[in-house]
Amino acid sequence: MYEKEIARRRSFAIISHPDAGKTTLTEKLLLFGGAIQVAGAVKSNKIKKHATSDFMEIERQRGISVATSVMSFEYQDVLINLLDTPGHKDFAEDTYRTLTAVDSVILVIDSVNGVEEQTRRLMEVCRMRDTPVIVFINKMDRDGKLPFDLLDEIEKELKISLHPMSWPINNGKEFKGVYNLHDRSLLLFTPGQKISEENSFPIAVLSDALLDKKVGERDALQLREDVELLEGVYGALDLQAYLGGQIAPVFFGSAVNNFGVKELLDTFIQIAPKPLGRQTDKRFVAPEEEKFTGFIFKIHANLDPRHRDRIAFLRVCSGRFARNTYYKHTRLEKDIRFSNPYSFLAREKDVIEEAYPGDVVGLFDTGNFKIGDTLTQGELLQFTGIPTFSPEIFRELVNKDPMKTKQLEKGIRQLTDEGVAQLFTQHGGIRKVIGCVGDLQFEVIQYRLLQEYGASCAFMPLSFYKACWITGDKKKVEEFVRFKQANVMEDKDGNLVYLAQSEWYLNTERQNNPDIEFHFTSEFKTEQY
Ligand code: G4P
Repeated sequence: MYEKEIARRRSFAIISHPDAGKTTLTEKLLLFGGAIQVAGAVKSNKIKKHATSDFMEIERQRGISVATSVMSFEYQDVLINLLDTPGHKDFAEDTYRTLTAVDSVILVIDSVNGVEEQTRRLMEVCRMRDTPVIVFINKMDRDGKLPFDLLDEIEKELKISLHPMSWPINNGKEFKGVYNLHDRSLLLFTPGQKISEENSFPIAVLSDALLDKKVGERDALQLREDVELLEGVYGALDLQAYLGGQIAPVFFGSAVNNFGVKELLDTFIQIAPKPLGRQTDKRFVAPEEEKFTGFIFKIHANLDPRHRDRIAFLRVCSGRFARNTYYKHTRLEKDIRFSNPYSFLAREKDVIEEAYPGDVVGLFDTGNFKIGDTLTQGELLQFTGIPTFSPEIFRELVNKDPMKTKQLEKGIRQLTDEGVAQLFTQHGGIRKVIGCVGDLQFEVIQYRLLQEYGASCAFMPLSFYKACWITGDKKKVEEFVRFKQANVMEDKDGNLVYLAQSEWYLNTERQNNPDIEFHFTSEFKTEQY
């Protein structure tokens, strides 16, 4: 029905370990799309390294980050939706959820540091959904690891096959540029100099003496050897394997010098998947379907505490979303319409009339939405694949002002709906445990509960290692719950969760209870941790 609109859209995210160059690459991509204003905002949105424990800084940035949550721009008639993911590790959960709303990712790796902790975790999430990945090896202007070593490291550590699309000639001070294996051209690098046509030379056969002239005999020889080896090993890019998430094309470049970025973008718009369908609890929804469907993957609270309204980010999955039209909120079985849906087109941040699959729409919300909620044109279905992961830090919520119990309850419920943290309530009791990925969130919660709800709380450290959702034979589960009362809680949807003190405890319980399944995500599917 809307094939043309769908075919011209690409929705993706850039992911990386902090400092690998995500912000810089984002800016350069936006500049290619003519979105200069937003490019400036990207930089100021970055949480500064030295301000990691300063949650006021985060509050300040919450304001800016709405603007950069989704950056839409056009490049060669392709409408690109670039979804921002917070680099800070304490907001990893936010990043995981954003990854459910994109169709592919660009993974930035620092050539000096190679694969880092966040790189590994993010790739694990990509693998859960077989998300297609393009790798950009950044900072080639620095003395980094050797390219073959980097490929080896990435393949081994991230368990993905690679396919080099370009190949560097040296690195660091000696970095001379890249040879594009795809269109067989040489792109010369001069630090700080703008890339122009004059830096690019078609060299179809590498024996061409032009290569020696441009990079010198020694490097020409090395490149010839490297390319011979590469072509023997890799052959042509298997597009289907890329789209299936098994092979990642690799580019080398330097984001800060805008080197290799255009090649990356040109290839991206050619090979990256157009908006894909999504699985629901009832059936698979294809983007081409006539009727609209979409899901909420992120909720952003208003900065002004006097206004409780929030912005819910909707990914359109099928059909056409239109302003002022009633849609079914399937969890609440309630019809809602939106008079001011928000678009993220870089040049005009404005109310939109319509949106298509792959697009992200900002909806003003007065508390109707939770992450994962689905909107349809009437059909009662719920998108799946937006799991909650086990938190890493657990603390008990202590009410410091009994007069404000109601406010605290409401506040913590709303904040956890936003996905700031996870709330677990004692099974058959009232103890509340908050689980987060990082320390910072506790500060944010405490601050926001006071500012926005007038409730003051404290957090008592708990030494839990992981939360596991438990299912299985009803009797056995009941028995387990009885024995392990102090460790069993309920998540917000009433699912039973076992909080393990350590890996040893977890393994012991698993061994002792073969009829109970311990799941590491709330969706009880592909476990890999
Ligand atoms: P992030 O979003 O992944 O955290 O990384 P970001 O783009 O902010 O880059 C981290 C640092 O690496 C920045 O330096 C940035 O300028 C630098 N950088 C990015 N790409 C390249 C590259 O290709 N080569 C080199 N040599 N450096 C690169 P900074 O000093 O932390 O920040 P700034 O003061 O330059 O903004």
